[in-house]
Amino acid sequence: MATQTEAAVVCRDVIKNYGSGDSLVRALRGVDLEVFPGELTLLVGPSGCGKTTLLSVVAGILEPTSGQVNVLQHDLRKMSQSKKVRFRRQNIGFVFQQYNLLPALTAAENVSIPLILAGQSRRRAHAAAVELLERMAMGNRANALPTQLSGGQQQRVAIARALIHHPRLLVCDEPTSALDAKTGHTIMEVLRSVAVEGERAVIIVTHDSRVYDFGDRIARMEDGHIIGIDTQNGTGRSMRATSDVATVGGASHGGVTA
Ligand SMILES: Nc1ncnc2c1ncn2[C@@H]1O[C@H](COP(=O)(O)OP(=O)(O)OP(=O)(O)O)[C@@H](O)[C@H]1O
Ligand SMILES: [Mg+2]
Repeated sequence: MATQTEAAVVCRDVIKNYGSGDSLVRALRGVDLEVFPGELTLLVGPSGCGKTTLLSVVAGILEPTSGQVNVLQHDLRKMSQSKKVRFRRQNIGFVFQQYNLLPALTAAENVSIPLILAGQSRRRAHAAAVELLERMAMGNRANALPTQLSGGQQQRVAIARALIHHPRLLVCDEPTSALDAKTGHTIMEVLRSVAVEGERAVIIVTHDSRVYDFGDRIARMEDGHIIGIDTQNGTGRSMRATSDVATVGGASHGGVTA
């Protein structure tokens, strides 16, 4: 079914070079990739193979050197910088490998930023942020500053911030790297239900083999190329049916929209 749906992301022969001359790094060497709404696509591969670079290009944060990048039926390369910023704010959520939380703001204030940028009042945005943090077992730390949080807690704040405005495309760079098995599982369930129930496209970079079962597709990357895509219809999909998944993700989704 999903393969007949229009892709949310289409990359064709995407090349990204950093630097030039002696310091030239060919990070992406002709990437072809399609990502579909309602699915969770995992991007896996060794350190330095270009995963973060590819996510950044897809999210419109980094200009590719050449190639086609279509996101939600928009050609990113044809967009002006200001239009791209607006498009990103409205449609894309990004969980950075290094979290990128604002240190002077509390967890809830960090999470509410996308809603405030979208024009919501601070009060409503804050309430929505606290509710989403509660669903991620972080309700009791909503007023803490990032420096007062553990790595795994900061990671959950970063994920909540990327989700709160219901982006149609969510990209996550190693979202479970700092989490224990149980919390990692909960977060993957949230991400999976976000994809399935909201018909969102979710791309997750991971080194964490514990999360492989959650993916509908696993794109394997090596040395700047996608070298293969495995489609799964086993454990990952069947987990959707569990009531936990529906409750965690559905409630957080509905709660924020309301
Ligand atoms: N700003 C930059 N300037 C120069 N080279 C860079 C820059 N960012 C990344 N690179 C290089 O590009 C290549 C791909 O980097 P990238 O960060 O995309 O890898 P990655 O697959 O995300 O690795 P990891 O799993 O360690 O996060 C690496 O060789 C890296 O050293
Ligand atoms: Mg990386």
